[in-house]
Amino acid sequence: MKITVRLIVSLVLAVAMVTAAFSFYQVDREKSRMASDLELRTSILADSLRGSVARLVKEDLSARLKWIVERFGNRKRLEGVAVFDMEGNIITVTPELKPGIPQPFPEAVKTMLDNSPSSRLMDINGKETYIYVLPLMANGKINGAMALFNDASYIDLRLKEIWKTNLIRFLIYTMLIVLITLVVVRWSITGPIARIAQWMREVRTDKDKTGHLAHQCPRGDILASLINEATHMAKSLATARAKAEEAAKLSFKAASLWSANRLKEHMRAELGGKKLFLVSNREPYMHTKTGHEVRCIVPAGGLVTALDPVMRICDGLWLAHGGGDADRETVDAFDKVRVPPEDPAYTLRRVWLSKEEEKGYYYGFSNEGMWPLCHITHTRPVFRLEDWVYYQKVNEKFAEALLKEIADQESPLVLIQDYHLALLPLLVKEKRPDARVALFWHIPWPNPEAFGICPWQQEILMGMLGADLVGFHIQYHCNNFLDTVDRFLESKTDWEQFSVSRSGHTTLVKSFPISVGFENFTDRETARQENGPLRERLFRETGVHARLLGVGVDRIDYTKGIPERFRAIERFLDKHPEFVGEFTFVELGAPSRTHIKKYHDLMAEVEETVESVNWRFQTKQWRPILFLKAHHSHEEISRFYRAADICMVTSLHDGMNLVAKEFVSARDDEDGVLILSQFAGASRELTDALIINPYDIEEMADAIYRSLLMEPREKSERMARMRQVVRENNIYRWAADLITAAARLRPSDGGE
Ligand code: F6P
Repeated sequence: MKITVRLIVSLVLAVAMVTAAFSFYQVDREKSRMASDLELRTSILADSLRGSVARLVKEDLSARLKWIVERFGNRKRLEGVAVFDMEGNIITVTPELKPGIPQPFPEAVKTMLDNSPSSRLMDINGKETYIYVLPLMANGKINGAMALFNDASYIDLRLKEIWKTNLIRFLIYTMLIVLITLVVVRWSITGPIARIAQWMREVRTDKDKTGHLAHQCPRGDILASLINEATHMAKSLATARAKAEEAAKLSFKAASLWSANRLKEHMRAELGGKKLFLVSNREPYMHTKTGHEVRCIVPAGGLVTALDPVMRICDGLWLAHGGGDADRETVDAFDKVRVPPEDPAYTLRRVWLSKEEEKGYYYGFSNEGMWPLCHITHTRPVFRLEDWVYYQKVNEKFAEALLKEIADQESPLVLIQDYHLALLPLLVKEKRPDARVALFWHIPWPNPEAFGICPWQQEILMGMLGADLVGFHIQYHCNNFLDTVDRFLESKTDWEQFSVSRSGHTTLVKSFPISVGFENFTDRETARQENGPLRERLFRETGVHARLLGVGVDRIDYTKGIPERFRAIERFLDKHPEFVGEFTFVELGAPSRTHIKKYHDLMAEVEETVESVNWRFQTKQWRPILFLKAHHSHEEISRFYRAADICMVTSLHDGMNLVAKEFVSARDDEDGVLILSQFAGASRELTDALIINPYDIEEMADAIYRSLLMEPREKSERMARMRQVVRENNIYRWAADLITAAARLRPSDGGE
């Protein structure tokens, strides 16, 4: 409001000054004009009278003089005439004037002395009067003076009228100015400013949750440049706020995200400096020989992928079967070797198995019996007594080795992995009731009916229940396990706590969805070094001529649905021939358990399927499937993950499947589509994958088609959400949850 008042006052003052100046000027001009007009008229009249009056004065004809004076005294505006003698005294005068004229009349005296006419305004009888006096001459001599008295009050009236008119004009101007100023100021200044202020307040305060307001600054012509600046500022504010919120979120997440360092600290606090003991059949680093050259490889499979990063930061002991043909050459006198070779961080203690033991325990009972028993893939489990004997024997062997390692440890924490070592928990607990033992089962657990075909079901269950904690990937497997225990063992199942109590010992059953290191697959450094498009490089290196790339990474196992996947690719090309010559699927398949006939046959089936699909569609330059049958390093696999348009995980049954999570972790470009089996545990978490039934070839073919045509935006939104899931539920969190749960079990929960 202040600005409006100031503006109005200034404008009114300016107008007042201008009006006053013009009025003065006008009045002055008018006054001079009227005065000269009066003077002219009076002088003409005076001149016309002058001669005759001079003569009459000379001849002293008073009556005649009086008559003339009276006659002329009646003219319009002429008040009267007076004639003076040489002393300035009145000879004759219009009677009404007489009282107002002093004698001698100074003007008459002066005009006679100067011998020239003079004029002036004078108050005569209370009236403004114009007096024109001139000398009278007779025979060249002054003989008196004559004065004409004109009414000049009309000049004053006229001048007052001018002032009045100008004052009214000024008032009208003032009103108009006030009105126009108020309207213009409100319309063009205070209104827009108020709206901008309101808009800025909303942008500044939390009302602008979306940041859209920053782009919607109110309009206002004369404030255009200010608005422009304000809009920039608002946008910057919105961006800054978004960034601050993102930073806050990230820092909150960083605080809540599990990382290697956080796990390290956590373990230190949780274990109080104690070592971690991990036991599995498969070793994390395997030494093999090619000629005289010894190589160290990382065996394919989720267990190693998941647990190696955990052990690297815990500096514990990993006890595993030394299965590599150069393993014995690389251990010390205590069968130990520090790994990883390039940057030793923990100890690998190898357990040696004879060929018979390996055959009976690993190939036989574990992989021909337990593996198909737990995976519902319509592959019959085979249970042989001799395999069972070896299974028990090898579990005892592992127990013996482990007990030696933990002999001097008080309440050691032991993490046993997988179906190869189902008897180990009880074997350890029998000897070391103070040990905290957790068993993590990396494969599915079937329903009681399916499990019921195992001839040694009770022994297996009792062995497992020796653990204080039994973990599965998903709750469904926990439920199946509790159902199975309920069915086959004398025990108390607590469905609220998810625990089993038997002979005074309680086992907690809990789900721990395993994962990957996430950051370990976001290999920015390697990505940076790959100058040029990665896909073209891979195509060149593998001799592929295509535009689109699909990838599959598997141990060659009948649970992975590999032939089904290839048949889906065949069906896809059948339905969409426009992709012939365009799309190639690269299968990175690591041979596995090849001594088992089923696996041997599977390899043949996979190769045959590849051949038949390729034969149908291949051209001179191009083929639909490239099967790279070999053990591939993480780095090699990672490059394919990053270059692929789609990744297919088509397990017929799978505990978790870490390939799915590895692929998601590798895609920091948020590109690529994951096609994921509904029968893999990962499908519970990665709901933004295209979830398929691997038995439904038609559905899989359609999913391939949909993935290849998916809008980039949808792809990146899905990938971003999946990455968030894996980032948050990474392997460090898995390890922290599992280890914390095991370490915090109360003494009454464990031990006999
Ligand atoms: O998926 C089950 C599992 O035991 C994994 O834990 C492991 O990584 C994989 O199979 C490999 O099996 P193997 O040790 O027989 O090669």
